[in-house]
Amino acid sequence: MLSDPHSPALNVKQNRILLIIGGGIAAYKCLDLVRRLREQGVSVRAVMTRAAAEFVTPLSVGALTSDRVFTDLFDLNDEREIGHICLSREADLVIVAPATADLLAKMAGGHADDLASTILMATDKPVLVAPAMNPRMWLHPATQRNVKQLKNDGIHFVGPNVGEMAERDEAGPGRLAEVPEIIAAAEPHLANSPIARSVTPLRAKRPLTGRHVLVTSGPTHEPIDPVRYIANRSSGKQGHAIAQAAFALGARVTLVTGPVTLPDPEGIKTVHVETAQQMLEAVRRGLPADIAVFAAAVADWRSATIPRQKIKKTGDRPVIDLVENPDILATVANLEAERPQHVIGFAAETRDVIAYAKKKLLAKGADWIIANDVSSTTRVLGGDNNTVHVVTPENVESWPQMSKDEVAERLMLRAAEHLRRTTAAAE
Ligand code: CTP
Repeated sequence: MLSDPHSPALNVKQNRILLIIGGGIAAYKCLDLVRRLREQGVSVRAVMTRAAAEFVTPLSVGALTSDRVFTDLFDLNDEREIGHICLSREADLVIVAPATADLLAKMAGGHADDLASTILMATDKPVLVAPAMNPRMWLHPATQRNVKQLKNDGIHFVGPNVGEMAERDEAGPGRLAEVPEIIAAAEPHLANSPIARSVTPLRAKRPLTGRHVLVTSGPTHEPIDPVRYIANRSSGKQGHAIAQAAFALGARVTLVTGPVTLPDPEGIKTVHVETAQQMLEAVRRGLPADIAVFAAAVADWRSATIPRQKIKKTGDRPVIDLVENPDILATVANLEAERPQHVIGFAAETRDVIAYAKKKLLAKGADWIIANDVSSTTRVLGGDNNTVHVVTPENVESWPQMSKDEVAERLMLRAAEHLRRTTAAAE
């Protein structure tokens, strides 16, 4: 890292973010956002709306930014020393988090009646908005109209995620994006700014350094006879992308893959297998691991007997006697001694995606299930994009459609953060 995260704010050598904190219950998460940004060497200057100050105090925000917190448009001292135009232009990026329905409406309508909205009107810098509100407010036609308008105006969005709300019995889209997601969404804007080019981006911190990540990928082929086999349409793109993302974040990676047409990723120990039984063997040999990701589309059944010779047509209807394959994910998730600290499974579904994924989470003993809809209309199988839901024991987070590479990087950044927290909690 080139810059000292504890040096005074707005040091010109640093990435600079102006964080506008809106008035919502999720405002407290901004404290963590500020802390994580500063750990990355980013300087943060904060502006709070009047409502935001009802949820977190300017004092605590200021303690974390090591800077004054700006709240009032009509504070003449501010105007003399700095001015709202200056505030809006000094940063490389403006982040609005949490962005309330009211703040989005003001932005879309071009209002400028307080410091936050005036800055947003006056800025010539990229603006990243992280909305958080009650699901009904988010889904309200007025909010959706405003979001559409803001997107047309070039405003960037991260989230909201789907999940439980702070209010009891409320669930749906409206949760503030998680801190690592906001940082990941902010990063391209920082890396592109002329001031920021020299600063190490988040992924360059390689948060998986020293960790071993084991990934399964691709389909399995279950022989019926010497020339025929049972298979599925998995391409291995998502699993291979996860292995590559983990490697890029500093991990030692073991990739156990079924038959795919993809090249072996550079720098990664790749073990080739054909059948589910071979995959299980290779996975067990690959342990111990800190994180295990089961992205393979393992065939659920294999033929009970495999004749040595090709089965010939006889005029009778041939019968293949199928037996169930071992469940690799469930086997590893339930290991006593060598269970990886973080076990992530996938759920490929063609209907009731989240409900089935929740069941799989429990049934298999995984920590997270990444659920995706693989019905033919979604073109996930074999395609380059994916739309996933991250199902954890606590909540369900739905990510927008993105490339499989982006899903992989985001997932590994999240897993790295999770591992960091659980390791710290255990110490
Ligand atoms: N999985 C596994 N071994 C198996 C079957 C599945 O490790 N024999 C893993 C997959 O890699 C994935 C998760 O279990 O991470 C769920 O796979 P999926 O095919 O969606 O579920 P199944 O358990 O096969 O259930 P079903 O086909 O009935 O939906």
